[in-house]
Amino acid sequence: MSDDKVFDARELRQVLGSFVTGVTVITTVDAQGKPHGLTVNSFSSVSLDPPLVLWSQSLTAPSHPVFRDAERFVVNILADDQVAISNQFARGKDDKFAGMATDQGIGGVPLIRGSAAYLECRRMDCFRGGDHMVFLGQVERIERTGRQPLVFGGGRYLVAQPHDLGALLTESGPNIARLQAVRLATRAVVELSDEIDETLGLGVWGNQGPTIVRWEESTQPVSDNLRTGLVLPVLTSATGLAFAAWLPRELTAPFIDAELTQDAQGNFLPHPERLPERLSHIRSQGFVRLVGIDDFTELYGRSISALSVPVFDPDGAMVLALTAIGATDRLDTSDSGKVLVGMRRCADTLTQRLRGSAAPGNP
Ligand SMILES: Cc1cc2nc3c(=O)[nH]c(=O)nc-3n(C[C@H](O)[C@H](O)[C@H](O)COP(=O)(O)O)c2cc1C
Repeated sequence: MSDDKVFDARELRQVLGSFVTGVTVITTVDAQGKPHGLTVNSFSSVSLDPPLVLWSQSLTAPSHPVFRDAERFVVNILADDQVAISNQFARGKDDKFAGMATDQGIGGVPLIRGSAAYLECRRMDCFRGGDHMVFLGQVERIERTGRQPLVFGGGRYLVAQPHDLGALLTESGPNIARLQAVRLATRAVVELSDEIDETLGLGVWGNQGPTIVRWEESTQPVSDNLRTGLVLPVLTSATGLAFAAWLPRELTAPFIDAELTQDAQGNFLPHPERLPERLSHIRSQGFVRLVGIDDFTELYGRSISALSVPVFDPDGAMVLALTAIGATDRLDTSDSGKVLVGMRRCADTLTQRLRGSAAPGNP
């Protein structure tokens, strides 16, 4: 072992996990005609002419002797609705094909139905690379089904989305800033939710008011009622109050006025005359805290509390509300609690990244 090796296996795995891949199941048949398969993300293209691909298998995988001796294999590139299949083939089980819909490819090697694409290969070569065997295959038949591929990165399954910013990244304007903010924040809330284990929502100001575009659930979900596209009230939701506090009054006024009119119909709302003072207080403390929101008891099935912090674009306009919600008896809404501290840090980082996203050297 080299003296230069200053990282451990866990760190190496995490670094390698930064390289996002698709997910494949490599299948073959043994001499008795029994099908075998395993989930693999070490698949890679090698050459177009001749058409060559590779993948590598742990020498300790129980199915290794079968693949080592097999003449053929099929690369089934999984579709984004095949997470269960990926998990099934990642377990050391004998009956991985039980209940699996397959078709027979060249040499009787199974093709897993519903995959995004297939490469039927003849094994050309294999050579040892440390604790893995690298298999080189010549591609003999291919098929693409048009299904969206499953993605794997950072140790979790992902779905692919087109990078809609593309050339627009050089442009400026509120919509671009908002797209960029949602994109950055989507990633950030996954990490924050892992850290603080609370349900987090991302709210934008849509044409119907405060609208949740993304939920990241904690391990103890608040409710199964957390829909993307949920439109929230301005005055009685933490997300809504954040927008009311930081967006220009002319944007929020029609919504606030409509909600105040409803007040006459019996709903509890803050006193309109106290609203400016309330919003000014929110701005000075930098976040919204609502403890025990009765309005949502029906929606969520219990009393909930919420915290919301703003994210700003480079011009200082609020683009996003980062909101945590949880059962009132569980969510820590205190000033120095890890939820609020983590959320404020996350929102500040997002604001800074939006400000500096065009600068070179930004991660
Ligand atoms: C997303 C994902 C990617 C994987 N990639 C590989 C890989 O490239 N090579 C490998 O040997 N095992 C890989 N594995 C692990 C194997 O799928 C797992 O060890 C499987 O049980 C091996 O099959 P076997 O027990 O039938 O031999 C991966 C697992 C997952 C979930």
